This record gives sequence, C-alpha cells and structure tokens, in this order.
Amino acid sequence: MESGLDMQLLMDTALGRRPADLVVRNGTLMDVYTGRMLPGRSVAVAGEWIAHVGPDLGYAVGPETRVIEADGRVICPGFIDAHTHLINYFNIPEFLSYAIPSGATCLIAELECYGFILGAEGVRIFLEQTEASPVKIYTLVPPMVSLSPAAESLMITPEQLAGLFEDPRVIGLGESFWQAPILQSDPRILGLIRETHKAGRSVQGHAAGAFDRKLAAYAAIGVESCHEAISTEDVLNRLEMGFYAMIREGDIRRDLEIILPLRDKIDFRRVILVTDGTNPGLLIQKGYLKDVVQKAVDLGIDPMEAVRMVTLNPAEHLGLDKLTGGIAPGRHADLLILPDPRTIRPQWVISKGRVVAEEGRMTVPVPEAHYPDRLMNTVRAPVVSPSAMAVTESCADREGMVRTLDIQPGGLVAREGRARPRPVSGYLAADPAEDLLKVFFMERISGRGEAFVGFVRGWGQKRGAVATTLCWDTGGIIGIGENDEDLAAAVNRLTAIQGGTVIVVDGEPKLEIPLRAGGYVSELKMPELAGRLLRFQEVMASLGTGLDFAHLTLSVLTTPAIPFIRLTEKGYYRFREGDIVRLGS
Ligand SMILES: [Fe+2]
Repeated sequence: MESGLDMQLLMDTALGRRPADLVVRNGTLMDVYTGRMLPGRSVAVAGEWIAHVGPDLGYAVGPETRVIEADGRVICPGFIDAHTHLINYFNIPEFLSYAIPSGATCLIAELECYGFILGAEGVRIFLEQTEASPVKIYTLVPPMVSLSPAAESLMITPEQLAGLFEDPRVIGLGESFWQAPILQSDPRILGLIRETHKAGRSVQGHAAGAFDRKLAAYAAIGVESCHEAISTEDVLNRLEMGFYAMIREGDIRRDLEIILPLRDKIDFRRVILVTDGTNPGLLIQKGYLKDVVQKAVDLGIDPMEAVRMVTLNPAEHLGLDKLTGGIAPGRHADLLILPDPRTIRPQWVISKGRVVAEEGRMTVPVPEAHYPDRLMNTVRAPVVSPSAMAVTESCADREGMVRTLDIQPGGLVAREGRARPRPVSGYLAADPAEDLLKVFFMERISGRGEAFVGFVRGWGQKRGAVATTLCWDTGGIIGIGENDEDLAAAVNRLTAIQGGTVIVVDGEPKLEIPLRAGGYVSELKMPELAGRLLRFQEVMASLGTGLDFAHLTLSVLTTPAIPFIRLTEKGYYRFREGDIVRLGS
C-alpha cells in the first residue's frame, strides 16, 4: 500500500541531521507493541510521521521545533474506529468536530448509503469529500446486499471493485452479510471477495446468527471479521474460527460487557472495539471513542488491553500496522496525551503530526465537505396521490386476511403475521384501534417509483403519517400511515425536499428533518440535528408510537441484516423462505 512516507526526511530527523518538527517530551509511553508503560520517553515527529521514540531526544529539538511537555503523562497511540458508518444523519465535518477531540485519528467507513444511491461513483465522491480531513479516513467498498430489486442497477461489480482498489484509501470489502455468499452462493458477492483477496485487502464480515458449519463456511471463504457477536459465546466462537471479533459500543448496540467473562482467560489481541456508527444524540451525550475506551477501563479491562482494542489490534487486522496503531518510527504521528492510563481524556490530540484538538476542543478547522449536485438530488420518484396508497379488498385472501409485518418489542426484528383490515367501500383501511397501519415502500433509484403497500403492526401510531428516505440497504422512501392522505403527503414532501424525514398529521407538517445529501445526510449542525431527532421521538410518542428508537425502527424496515420479514417495492421479503410475497396468500 502506497504510504507517501518521505524516507529521506525521516532518516535525517532520526539521525539528527535536521531538527524534528514536533517533539513530545518526557511522557510515559504506552507501548502497545510490548505491552509495557515506559516512563521518560519522547517522540520526535517529522512532517506527518514519527521519526524516533526514545528516552533522550534533546538532539532533535531545533529553534523551529514545537515542543509539547508531556510531564510524565501518557503518550498513547491515536484511536481507530475500525467499523463505522459515516453516512448517517450528520455531515462528516460536523461529526469530525466531535470525534477528533475524542481521540479518533483514523476511521474506517462503511459506505452502503452512497452505494445504494450512486454505486461505485458514491465511493469516489466519499473519497473526494474526505481527502482534506485532519485525520485519516479509509473506506470499504460496499458489497451492496439488498432485498430491493431496484438496487440491482447500482450493484458494484468485481471489475469496478478492482478499479476502486487503485486508491490506497480503499482498504477492503465492507460488511457482506453471511447469507449472500453462504446460503445463496451469490456469484457477484463471491466474485467481490475473490477480487479483494487478489488485491491483498481485507474482507469484513457480518455473521449475525451464524454458528458451527455456517460460521465455518464463512471463515473458510476468507471473511476476516465479524461485528455481530452479541454474547460471550459468540465472541469465543468467532475468535476460535480465526475471525477478529469486533465488539460494538454505538448506535445499534452497546455490548462491551460480553467480553468481561473472558478477562484473564483469553488473549484479547484479536478483539476490537468499534462503534458501528453513532447518532447525533448519542455523540453529544455519550461521546465517542474516548468514552468507549473509558468504559472498558472502568469495567476492569487493563488499560493496555483496552487501548490495543482501538489501536494495534484493528491496525493489524486491516493491514495498516505498518502505518498506524502504535508509536514507533515510520508510523503516522497520531498521538494522544492522556492524564494517566486510567483517565481516557485526551488533553492533546495529534494527527498527521500536528495538534488538532486540545482539552476536548478542535484547534484546527475541519474543511467543509463538497456535496456535488448528483448527491443532492437523489430522490427520483413521481408524485403519488392518496389513491396510490389504496388497497382493494381483492388483495386479501378468501377470509379477508392479509399478511402483516409485525414489529417485535425492541423495534428491530419483525415477524410475519396475519390480520383482517377494515373493509371500507371495497378497500382495506388502516385500523389504528387495532394497531394495524399501512406501510408503504417506494424505490427512488429507477425514477419509475415502483411501490408496495402493506400492513404493519407494532408501530402504535394513532394519527397521521411518517416517512423517511433514510432506508437501510436500498434507495427508497418508507412510510407508515393511519390514513392515505397524510401518507401520500409525507412521501411527496420528501420528494419535494429531496430527502429527509417528515411527520404529517391532518395534512399539516408536524416535523421535518432535512437529509438532503443522498437522502441520508443533513446539513444541520449537530446540536440542531440531535434536537430534531429527539423531537421526532417525542412527536411519535405523542401520536402513540411506544418504540424507544422509532426512527431506527423505520429505517431498518428494508435491511437484509435483520430478520424475519422486510419490505421491498415488490412486496414483503421473507428471510426463511427467501421469497417476495404480497398481501394475500
Ligand atoms: Fe455495520
């Protein structure tokens, strides 16, 4: 992998032929390579790189050298979030202004949202958007497993993948749900995995619910990680099969406790802490990587082990350890100064050889990301009328029953159910008294606006409608409504504003969250965006929805990652049967 390392500069600095640009003096080095705390160490930096680490680097200080006196405090490698989703409500510079003061100097982004809007071009746009970032941002190419037939036109091919790998910031294939290669032997996904191996990059996994033979098959085809362990046993199963086990502390789950029973029993060198994405409220309230590492330390994990889980372990896994993950000559000058090993509060964050944050605040500007027009106009869908939401009685079976998508407690899993909607003048209506509502999905990829209207239970809304373009694993609009007029109005509003989330009651907009970039990313500032998302939850609760994370529940209705029934533009997708079915039997 091309690194841009200036060998002459580093040799000259290490040998004392030129002064260092920055010296961090007299700290306690957290040496993740040997697992020791080394007092009285200094770090000499040349440009963006570490030139020398040692007890006495006075020779490296010249008149122009910036010197940071560590005074015995801990010099720790910058943190890596090895599995995150950056196309997730907030725009990237807004996110970085929170993530960097938290010690993140390297981020590995999954990009499925851009993929499902613009295919391979979405990856290129992301690379442009993050090129001038003050910290390292690498990306994975989305394998794009989707339930929605419309998404097929955007699927990244093995040939396109090979082209994307020409960029050194593209370091692997993103999370490929295990069902596609293992159960379906999907030739495209297998081709992507093969191409990734050929390029010497890593294949990220997603083995939710897989064990024994299926997990073995997944490991056998060269998938290297899994971030879906949700129990101690899962962690062990994955480690024993040779996977890196990524433990989540973020938006979707907070699972750190599952590794505690393994403390002092197993080697944690192949355990990695990741967020798997965060959200605006969580970022503001619970913080980011420093808080994840602090939680690990507070739960009794040795600080060296905890820090390795966000530094050396992910760097080794991703083939980046020649560049980052520890403090040694020839590595990126990405350093944190912590008050002591148990207080994970970076007083200075140094990235690419310069101080980028001090005492929780950015000290350099984060350049704005460019959002090209093609990313700002991605809701390709016709205007729909309330009649598009109508379901005729003939759609039901002989007993007047229809299939339903039943949201389970917790709001993520959904099961297939059956219900008898109210017949009204030849049509089947929603019945909020029975918690039976219309659910609508329209693809926004082809421009034809192919759509399906089904029924949902477990949502609870008594009045109005809600819709969003933030659909997981496809480009579309999902809506849920108690009446057809509000449902159509909510969907049409999203086309008009080119992306977002809206609630409409009695024809009036109750709340709007613009997500203009790709239909996923807002231009709002983080506190304003967090406020709107909080307000969304409050409005939905006032309308009767009892789910704790209503927006997430809505967004995941299209994903292949969560069983047992989901929505596509052609009907319900059933995981066990692997088929798409409509309302009647
Ligand atoms: Fe993920």
